[in-house]
Amino acid sequence: MAQRYLILSTSLRPGSRSKVLALESQKRLEAAGVEVEFVDLCDHPLPLCDGGACYGDPAVAEFKQKLINADGYLIATPIYNFDGNAALKNAIELTGRDVWTQKVVGFLAAAGGKMSYMSLSGLTLSLMLDFRTFCLPRFVYVTGEDFNEDNEITNENVIERLDEVAAELVRVTSALR
Ligand SMILES: Cc1cc2nc3c(=O)[nH]c(=O)nc-3n(C[C@H](O)[C@H](O)[C@H](O)COP(=O)(O)O)c2cc1C
Repeated sequence: MAQRYLILSTSLRPGSRSKVLALESQKRLEAAGVEVEFVDLCDHPLPLCDGGACYGDPAVAEFKQKLINADGYLIATPIYNFDGNAALKNAIELTGRDVWTQKVVGFLAAAGGKMSYMSLSGLTLSLMLDFRTFCLPRFVYVTGEDFNEDNEITNENVIERLDEVAAELVRVTSALR
């Protein structure tokens, strides 16, 4: 069966830089010849996870179904308060182990400054310990300095890292299957 990849963009902000990373990664995965789907949280208004009734919400069921069948994922997130954003955390809480167990996940992060570089450590560790998710030990992290005023990536190093993370996602996912 063909491998499936999914890119989840979690910023709800128009003009999001993490979404630019997500779209750039989609091009790379398509160029690698793999099946890839792009899911934007902006298109999926979801309830907040309450640990109960939310799991019966049709929007949650539809969202989970979209995510569940991929082998490898790239999650694009803004850094908020030294972490992924609440929309991402909520999406993980709503989807849980059925989606994330033993899957391969890479991260693409957009932040306001360089000091938050380690911000995704807690989230990656929780995915690894909770769901045995294989988090790539390589990610893309950008700030506004890496973009021009048209929201295009100008930093060659970021472009290289996007290439590397997409290639690494396919390499590790293929190896584990
Ligand atoms: C509520 C909030 C919290 C933020 N916290 C941080 C932070 O801890 N560290 C940081 O570097 N930038 C922080 N930022 C800046 C965002 O990471 C930055 O604007 C980023 O570009 C957002 O991602 P997006 O462009 O994909 O929406 C914060 C922004 C908001 C709105």
